[in-house]
Amino acid sequence: MLSRKKTLALMGAAAFAFASGTASAADNTVEVIHWWTSGGEAAALNVLKKDLEGQGYAWKDGAVAGGGGDQARTVLKARVAAGNPPTTMQMLGLVIGDYAAEDLLGNLNDLAAKEGWEKVVPPALQSFMKPEGDWVAAPVNIHSTNWVWANKKIFDDVGAEIPTNWDEFVAVLDKIKAAGITPIAWGGQAWQEATVVDALVNSTGGADFYKKTLNEADQDALRSDTMKTVFDRLRKLKDYVDPNYPGRDWNLATAMVINGEAGMQMMGDWAKGEFLNAGKVPNEDFLCFRFPGTQGSVTFNTDAFAMFKVGDDSKEAQMALAKAIMDPGFQEAFNLVKGSIPARMDVPGDKFDACGQKAMADLKEAVGNDALMGSMAHGHGVPEGVKGAMYDVITNFFSSDMSSEEAVKNLADAVALAR
Ligand code: BGC
Repeated sequence: MLSRKKTLALMGAAAFAFASGTASAADNTVEVIHWWTSGGEAAALNVLKKDLEGQGYAWKDGAVAGGGGDQARTVLKARVAAGNPPTTMQMLGLVIGDYAAEDLLGNLNDLAAKEGWEKVVPPALQSFMKPEGDWVAAPVNIHSTNWVWANKKIFDDVGAEIPTNWDEFVAVLDKIKAAGITPIAWGGQAWQEATVVDALVNSTGGADFYKKTLNEADQDALRSDTMKTVFDRLRKLKDYVDPNYPGRDWNLATAMVINGEAGMQMMGDWAKGEFLNAGKVPNEDFLCFRFPGTQGSVTFNTDAFAMFKVGDDSKEAQMALAKAIMDPGFQEAFNLVKGSIPARMDVPGDKFDACGQKAMADLKEAVGNDALMGSMAHGHGVPEGVKGAMYDVITNFFSSDMSSEEAVKNLADAVALAR
């Protein structure tokens, strides 16, 4: 994040540019920066694009490839620094608050009141959409990260059941390995490895431990023996990946499961979008289950579109976009393709497939168990600086022979520095 002073100075320059007429967008254009570039993601984005175009607005696409959005966030920073923010940007969790604190986001309160968003958006999401009390972003979905996506034929062929705890999980991985198949499709990128750690922390220590470590960044919890076990388990998973894992994109890892080159992938439910895009059917071609040991809890992330402050001539288009995103029919159509579930609780679940219905039921159960947590890996757990520190230690650990003791120390030290 830029310092507040620096950003405000740059925004001052931007205001000047607007006033002198050099940076004005056409009335009906919405420029959208996002990172939805895989097959499934692009298909979902297209639902939004078509909706807007159908209403007569022009869509200026700002796709920035890179799963998890790190690259897109870097582009946004540069755009903001140059005084040229887009109409809207796909944002995760606490990042919305960073931009709101810099006073860069527009106010959606009137629209939210008119459309009754307060009543239908779950409270856990609202705190991210209204970081300073005003609505500044519109949530399009609820994803969660503690999932496993498996090739059903491989499971059937090796006689594997869905594992429900760590030991059963390792037994299934061993069976698949013994059959000569790569058990885990691993994407060797920091955000993907952090996504697996989301699940490992939850599975190893439970929901309260997850909150302490990956939401509160509590030093004692980060230095605990439980955290050491998390790293032991992460190390163990390396026995089950193929040598070409470094740098692999998440959707290519999903493709390995789809094509029967690997048994399973641990990934958020955007992976389901890839299976669906390839014409695959849940429980026939693929299985979705919660990461063993995390049943009854959910680590979630919500894609929201944060609205930047725009001149009067662009406001109508921006509000049309926000309204379209929150429309119940759109939320259904979009999420059926994306792999996530709606961000509104009043959208019926009957058109959703078995995995989508499970996601909805799991969410309710997690709320009842006080076990709905913001995902660290996807920007809903700890501030960006702390998240980055966690990413670095996790990915360095996985790609080196660092011991679990060292990893625990490095993690806690890096987090302390980043706070
Ligand atoms: C986003 C998803 C996206 C995934 C992979 C996550 O952070 O929430 O919408 O599909 O990254 O790019």
